[in-house]
Amino acid sequence: MGKEIIQIEHAYKQYGEKKVLDDFSLNIEKGETIAMIGSSGTGKTTLFNVITGTVSLDSGTVLIDGKEESTYNRKTMAKKLGMMTQKFDLVNELSVINNVLAGRLADWGFLKSLISLVHPLEKVLATEVLEQVNLEDKMYEKTANLSGGEQQRVALARVLVQNPEILLADEPIASLDPALSETVLQMLTGLTKEHGITLLCSLHSVEYAVRYFDRVVGLKDGKLFLNCKTEEISKEQLEELYR
Ligand SMILES: Nc1ncnc2c1ncn2[C@@H]1O[C@H](COP(=O)(O)OP(=O)(O)OP(=O)(O)O)[C@@H](O)[C@H]1O
Ligand SMILES: [Mg+2]
Repeated sequence: MGKEIIQIEHAYKQYGEKKVLDDFSLNIEKGETIAMIGSSGTGKTTLFNVITGTVSLDSGTVLIDGKEESTYNRKTMAKKLGMMTQKFDLVNELSVINNVLAGRLADWGFLKSLISLVHPLEKVLATEVLEQVNLEDKMYEKTANLSGGEQQRVALARVLVQNPEILLADEPIASLDPALSETVLQMLTGLTKEHGITLLCSLHSVEYAVRYFDRVVGLKDGKLFLNCKTEEISKEQLEELYR
């Protein structure tokens, strides 16, 4: 079996009276693709923020590749973890290539980053990842002019140039129609497998979770309700999750 790259042990997080994470534990192995499902407000985004270190736990521990978050600096953390947020956080006024190369910022000095806004550096790299998400013809287009699905793929390209070991994708298909959802999920799961990236992705579709991922994790009332290899999940378990 592979090595554990994310270890969450007895995580508790409470906002006011609401227990958002309630003794939540989960281990993720290197290279796995995991779909995280659960109703709205069950703590999926909170869990992502806990993993990236932007939200701190009331108690419990999170280890990334065996070490606590605080032992990494910004640059080494960017090599470990990439995140696609629920709102994709692209800069609409910038061209596609500039948004994509923003994924390299942690690796660049400030001056190099500034220069790249005027003259995109590492064009070869950007071209390569834009080809992988089928957007090479939109490279110099203003990002604002792209459709939702195209912007989602720019966000994927940006995180691919960052080349992290772990990718967290928070509802990457929330605003897409079914055909585009399938395209984006195929790319996301296909490219992460190809690059050996560990993927944790939140979704609202059980059907896609089962179809595209190795394992499905279900959250319910801040607890780990379901944790199952895709091929072993029963219909009853899934129905119970959303009840
Ligand atoms: N900063 C905060 N302050 C107070 N309450 C918060 C905060 N962040 C999240 N919550 C609450 O914690 C709960 C879980 O929120 P979270 O965003 O993690 O849910 P989610 O599973 O991602 O939902 P969705 O599927 O709608 O994106 C919600 O009830 C939310 O209102
Ligand atoms: Mg959310």
